[in-house]
Amino acid sequence: MAEHLLELHHLEQQFTVSGGKLRAVDDVTLHIDRGETVGLVGESGCGKSTLARTAMRLIDPTAGTILLDGHDITTMSQRELRPQRTRMQMVFQDPFGSLNPRRRIVTIVSDALEARGVPKADRRAEALAALKQVGLGQEHLDRYPHELSGGQRQRVGVARALATKPDLLVADEPVSALDVSVQAQLVNLLVDLQRELGLAQLFVAHDLSVVRQVASRVVVMYLGRIVETGPTTTLFATARHPYTRALLSAVPIADPTRRRRDRSAVFGELPSPIDPPTGCHFHPRCPRATEVCKTTQPPLWRYADGGAAACHHPHGVTAADIAGGARDDASPRASADLAPEPDQDAGA
Ligand SMILES: Nc1ncnc2c1ncn2[C@@H]1O[C@H](COP(=O)(O)OP(=O)(O)OP(=O)(O)O)[C@@H](O)[C@H]1O
Ligand code: SF4
Ligand SMILES: [Mg+2]
Repeated sequence: MAEHLLELHHLEQQFTVSGGKLRAVDDVTLHIDRGETVGLVGESGCGKSTLARTAMRLIDPTAGTILLDGHDITTMSQRELRPQRTRMQMVFQDPFGSLNPRRRIVTIVSDALEARGVPKADRRAEALAALKQVGLGQEHLDRYPHELSGGQRQRVGVARALATKPDLLVADEPVSALDVSVQAQLVNLLVDLQRELGLAQLFVAHDLSVVRQVASRVVVMYLGRIVETGPTTTLFATARHPYTRALLSAVPIADPTRRRRDRSAVFGELPSPIDPPTGCHFHPRCPRATEVCKTTQPPLWRYADGGAAACHHPHGVTAADIAGGARDDASPRASADLAPEPDQDAGA
């Protein structure tokens, strides 16, 4: 058994589009362990879905390596990939679009069971068991997708994914198309399933509030690159990257006594990924940017608490924090060993 369930090494996804090359995923290195939920966040268009789909080999990467339980699946043929595919399953954002409208629920789930080699005679019973796992039952088996509510359809999407008994669930914004009240139920279901089944999850979301409930670790993306990562509690308490701070300030906080002092917003539009800004991609929108940010890509600096940020002027970081950390080799294209600068407001 390999140390990590999924490993992405310097993954890159470049599309050729009419204005040139679009690097949707730019040198991403990350891993997911067994039973761990990793939250992937960032604005619309930053590359979350492309990263998720590339990691699943639904699209072939332009560069980099994907290891599933130690097996290099980067260049496996579709045939070689088939047994590995059942180990990682995807739940999509649109519960309607992702289910074939002309197939009954039992058939939709049974197709996934077939991929696992379950004999035909057993499929109806196993499909029912999968539906029960997600809070549906006998009465839903013979319905068509349009005869279910949005939340129920998404539950079918989860049941279908679970039917192959995967080790890893990649959920791409699984709740964002649902009503707020239904969102909470589905998030709870995913958390429960993760605990019961020991599933690993890559959970993609626009904002951090849902991720906070489900993920033990968070990865923040900006224009195809990882800009910050860390244990969820650490990241929420001490976000170092100005972009993460901006995302956090957009998260509604129910308790008024805990309102954040730093409610900096993200200024302006997301720049074009075809012609991204030089240096740190975030510099045109960053209130802390200096000259070095315009010219020099900051390396991902890993700190002693397990967090890492790619920023020349991170928040709340002392000289001792920097000395206690080290450059992470996940960002080799970033310029030489340029350590971040201590934050003057962070004390000694
Ligand atoms: N097949 C494709 N061909 C060309 N460009 C693409 C393709 N798929 C995605 N892109 C571009 O890649 C970038 C990242 O898109 P992606 O869908 O991964 O973003 P996202 O973070 O998932 O956004 P959202 O939150 O809106 O779902 C965007 O600029 C998008 O236009
Ligand atoms: S490197 Fe500079 S521009 Fe980029 S986030 Fe940090 S301070 Fe802002
Ligand atoms: Mg997306």
